[in-house]
Amino acid sequence: MFTRLLCVNDYEQHAKSVLPKAVYDYYRSGANDQETLADNIAAFSRWKLYPRMLQNVAEIDLSTSVLGQRVSMPICVGATAMQCMAHPDGELATVRACCSLKTGMMLSSWATSSIEEVAAAAPDALRWLQLYIYKDREVTKQLVQRAERMGYKAIFVTVDTPYLGNRFDDVRNRFKLPPQLRMKNFETNDLAFSPKEDFGDNSGLAAYVAKAIDPSISWEDIKWLRGLTTLPIVAKGILRGDDAKEAVKHGLDGILVSNHGARQLDGVPATIDALPDVVAAVEGKVEVFLDGGVRKGTDVLKALALGAKAVFVGRPVIWGLALQGEKGVQDVLEMLKEEFQLAMALSGCQNVKVIDKTLVRNPLAISRI
Ligand SMILES: Cc1cc2nc3c(=O)[nH]c(=O)nc-3n(C[C@H](O)[C@H](O)[C@H](O)COP(=O)(O)O)c2cc1C
Repeated sequence: MFTRLLCVNDYEQHAKSVLPKAVYDYYRSGANDQETLADNIAAFSRWKLYPRMLQNVAEIDLSTSVLGQRVSMPICVGATAMQCMAHPDGELATVRACCSLKTGMMLSSWATSSIEEVAAAAPDALRWLQLYIYKDREVTKQLVQRAERMGYKAIFVTVDTPYLGNRFDDVRNRFKLPPQLRMKNFETNDLAFSPKEDFGDNSGLAAYVAKAIDPSISWEDIKWLRGLTTLPIVAKGILRGDDAKEAVKHGLDGILVSNHGARQLDGVPATIDALPDVVAAVEGKVEVFLDGGVRKGTDVLKALALGAKAVFVGRPVIWGLALQGEKGVQDVLEMLKEEFQLAMALSGCQNVKVIDKTLVRNPLAISRI
C-alpha cells in the first residue's frame, strides 16, 4: 500500500496525507513561532557522537528498567491526548503495541479511551497515568485512585500547563473533538471536552484548560498528591536543575525533562540541552527521563549518554497510529528499537550500562551566563 517507510519522517509525511487537516495540525503543532519545536530536533544534531571501537558488539542488550519495572528498551510511549482522532482504536492500539514490544505506555488524562478500557485492552502491559491537576481535586483524586486500582505503575504529573500554550493552528482551526469522540476519563460533558459544548471562537482546548485545569497549583499541591498515593510520582515538564531538586525534596521519584513537545512556552531550550543541568542537580537520587524531538536511534543514545534513564516519544507514535493502528505503532517502535540497537553497536556499547557521557560532546552547548 505504501512506499517503504524507513524513518519517522516518512511516517509523518504519510500520516499528513491521511489525517484531516485540523487533526494533523493539532498533533504536529508547537506553540507560537515554534522556535522550540524546531530546536527540539536541531539540538540533537548539535551533539556529536564519539564512538568506541573494537568492543565486540556481536550481542547487544537494550533492556533496562523504568521506576523498577523491566522494559525491553529505553524507549517508551509518552502521553499524547485524544488518540482516537488518529485511528478508531486510538489508545487501545497503542497499549497493545507497547505490550508486544515490552515497553511502557503513559496514558494521557485526556485520552479518548478510559483508564479502565486501556487496562482491559492489555492487562499485562506496563502502563503509567499522566495526570493533570484539575480545579476539582475530587476529580483529580479519582483519576489517581482509578489508575492504582487498574494496575498502572506510576503517575506522571504534568507541571508545565497552568494554561494551554498558544498554538496558532488550533486557534485558526477552532480546534475541538470530532462529534463521535470525548475524553473518556470524565463523565460530565464539560470535563469530557464534549464537542457538544460551546468553547467559543478560539482553540476549544485552550478554553477547556482555562475552565478545568488549576493554574494556581504549586509545590503545596505536589505535597497533597504525594500524600494521596504510594505509586511512584514523576514530575513531567521540568527544565531547570533547581526545580528538579525541589521535586526530589518533595519526595518525587523521577523527573521527566520535557517542554511538552514544544507546545507550551516557546523559547525554552531543547530538552536535550536542558538535560545535563537536571541530571547534575538530582545527583543520582531519582531517575531522569527525557522527551521532545526524539526521532532516531542516535537521539536515544545521546539522551542516555547525557544521563537519561529512558526516553519517551510522542508524535512518532501518532504517525504510526494514523497509518495502521496497532501495527503502525508497533512498526514505529520496532524501527526506533532497531535504529537504537545499531547506534549502540556502532558506538561500541554492548548494553545500556556502558553508555556514558564520554560518547557525546557539543561544541555549541548552551551555557548560562
Ligand atoms: C498531540 C500531542 C498531545 C499531547 N498531549 C499531552 C497530554 O495530554 N498530557 C501531557 O502531559 N503531555 C501531552 N503532550 C506532550 C507529550 O507528552 C510529550 O511531552 C511530547 O509529545 C514529546 O515530544 P515529541 O512529540 O517531539 O516526541 C502531547 C503532545 C502532543 C504532540
